[in-house]
Amino acid sequence: MQILKDRIRKDGKIREGNVLKVDSFLNHQMDVSLFREIGKEFKRRFEGEEITKILTIEASGIGIACVVAEVFNVPVVFAKKTQTKNIAGDVYTTQVESYTHGRIYDIIVSREFLGPDDKVLLIDDFMANGKAMEGLIQIVKDSGAQLVGAGIVIEKGFQPGGDALRDQGVHLESLAIVESMDEKTGEIVFR
Ligand code: G4P
Ligand code: NA
Ligand code: NA
Repeated sequence: MQILKDRIRKDGKIREGNVLKVDSFLNHQMDVSLFREIGKEFKRRFEGEEITKILTIEASGIGIACVVAEVFNVPVVFAKKTQTKNIAGDVYTTQVESYTHGRIYDIIVSREFLGPDDKVLLIDDFMANGKAMEGLIQIVKDSGAQLVGAGIVIEKGFQPGGDALRDQGVHLESLAIVESMDEKTGEIVFR
């Protein structure tokens, strides 16, 4: 998606450890008119698919998922991250191991909001190692819902998450795939 790539080149900041900061338009301050264009692009890429629900994970996926959900005219559910070991109530839950943050956490979704009749599109702002997405896919499986696909705004193509999902046959649409970034020159190469 050209306007997204242009915006990443213009406003993205490359930080130590291959971190791409896009705080000024994606995951701190949010450019909602860009979000709307992103929503329309996902709509084009999943044209003809029946989708009943958008599923994302807190925190930074929520903003973009809401705008996408409005374009698809379906509800959006976000998985909650929790440290609690004993989860009471009727929930789907699985563990996510974050290499980035060096910790394991549980994610939960209430059974009330996901079930066998749902056709689910996963949405998130970033994909790196993809552990959060794997957790969401596990929850979709546990619920008996159908996984239609996953839409990612920025994929770090040099980390394994995206290609692992494609290898599993998941319909993954990433709007910008960063193949490499150079902290010194600021150069970003897209796939
Ligand atoms: P992981 O398995 O290493 O944890 O990788 P994953 O792809 O699940 O991404 C982990 C977290 O790091 C995600 O946020 C993701 O958005 C964020 N992330 C990874 N690489 C970058 C990057 O280069 N730039 C930015 N801005 N974010 C990146 P999260 O843990 O779900 O937290 P939250 O921010 O959504 O609350
Ligand atoms: Na994030
Ligand atoms: Na996120």
